Amino acid sequence: MLPFYFGTNFKMHQTPAVSAAFLHDLHQLTTDLDSTQLFLIPPFTSLPGLQAKGRIWIGAQNMHFADEGEYTGEISPAMLDALGLDLVLLGHAERRRHFGETDEHLNCKVKAALAHGLRVLLCVGETATDKYYHVERETVARQLKIALHDVTPADIDRLLVAYEPVWSIGTDGQPATVPAVTHTLEQIHATLGELFPSAIIPVIYGGSVNMDNCAEYATLPLLDGLFVGRAARTVDGFVQVLRRALGARA
Ligand code: PGA
Repeated sequence: MLPFYFGTNFKMHQTPAVSAAFLHDLHQLTTDLDSTQLFLIPPFTSLPGLQAKGRIWIGAQNMHFADEGEYTGEISPAMLDALGLDLVLLGHAERRRHFGETDEHLNCKVKAALAHGLRVLLCVGETATDKYYHVERETVARQLKIALHDVTPADIDRLLVAYEPVWSIGTDGQPATVPAVTHTLEQIHATLGELFPSAIIPVIYGGSVNMDNCAEYATLPLLDGLFVGRAARTVDGFVQVLRRALGARA
């Protein structure tokens, strides 16, 4: 039985002091929760001051695939490993869109992160153009097959997948309907089953998840958790959405 995964990516927000206060307060406000795995993904500059507390994993937002080298401005898996992090987020739509990350890059990153013992939260999701042409399923299948190419089954228990339709993310995003989410989730599970037949890989959902829609997503049997952006940017927002989702799931 998997826990319910619930976390947030702070993107390019927060100083180290703000991240530390968030972690502290979240820990205090969630001590009663069982069967829930929380995670926070702050900016790199906040990471050295944060220690995982109880059920709260700490993750990085990105990494290079090389251990070291002439890559100004990049952070390596060895550096993240040395911080004792729990998780690295790879392939977020903003990385793909603004920084040109391809599925081929992500394949190198996924393998490097797993080789360093890190957990990987891999994001997949179709763009608005993919949606227009009804190739959501083809897109996520392709993203998974390339990003997970040659990943060894022995490492697969450290993989989580986040389905985030690109058109649903951020202030311009539209929340996706439950049938649309289900349609693509079926393909994600089918592709993961094809690649790793005996593995149980958690699949979580993100993209404009908020107080109004979290309950209907949380009840989907094909989902193992939620990945929330703006609505979880404050500790109160995080905890309110989390508790509403858990209440709906129960
Ligand atoms: P959002 O962000 O909830 O603000 O749309 C989600 C994400 O980027 O993962």
